[in-house]
Amino acid sequence: MRKAFVAGNWKMHGSKASIMTLVSDLNSKVSEVGAIDIAVCPPAIYIDFVSRTLATDKISIGAQNMAIEPEQGAFTGEQSVAMLKDMGCNYVVLGHSERRAIYGETDAEVAAKVAVALSSNVTPILCVGETLDERESGVMEQVIATQLDAVISEVGIDAFDKVVIAYEPVWAIGTGKTASPAQAQEVHAFIRTKLAGLNAAVAEKVIIQYGGSVKPDNAVELFSQPDIDGGLIGGASLNADDFIAICKAAG
Ligand code: PGA
Repeated sequence: MRKAFVAGNWKMHGSKASIMTLVSDLNSKVSEVGAIDIAVCPPAIYIDFVSRTLATDKISIGAQNMAIEPEQGAFTGEQSVAMLKDMGCNYVVLGHSERRAIYGETDAEVAAKVAVALSSNVTPILCVGETLDERESGVMEQVIATQLDAVISEVGIDAFDKVVIAYEPVWAIGTGKTASPAQAQEVHAFIRTKLAGLNAAVAEKVIIQYGGSVKPDNAVELFSQPDIDGGLIGGASLNADDFIAICKAAG
């Protein structure tokens, strides 16, 4: 049995005041959630503030990105994996479609970052997913396979027992258009089957989150699919009631 995992990706949102309110609400409500894993991923500059404000060990902290360079050095504007770990991060989101599309991160760079995270025992949340064009032109599976293969060839399939995968169809992110539970399940099963072809035990264990307009009213149906093990939540993770409701749906 895989333990469900729900992570909130706050993206570039929030202020000290709004984050204080959000974290206080999470502190008081998280006891309503059953035995699942939960993380929040604040903007990097607020990681320490969140870690000081969180009063529960039920919620871990993740970063939204990380330097590709494994060691500290002259890399203006970057944060190393060791720094993230030092400030209490157990997870790092890598290869989010916004980083791929807006900042031009390539499959090879994402794969290199996954290797750096793993080398410091920070769990990568590896995002994969297709655009609407790619889905409609029939290359969805090829795109996702290519994104996964880059990482598999960098770190090896066995390392995937320490990787979380987030399937996030690009057309469903922040658009209010969710993949139907059947559409999402189809891709999750594709991912798991692909990994199983290389290592069945790892494929059985690996957590595959769904992300893309998950809300309290669609979470139960999505999370009840056999290969969906929780979610990576953007917009709805900025509201404590919604985030807790989604966590409960995974429990
Ligand atoms: P969304 O974002 O829930 O706002 O669609 C999900 C994500 O980008 O991780």
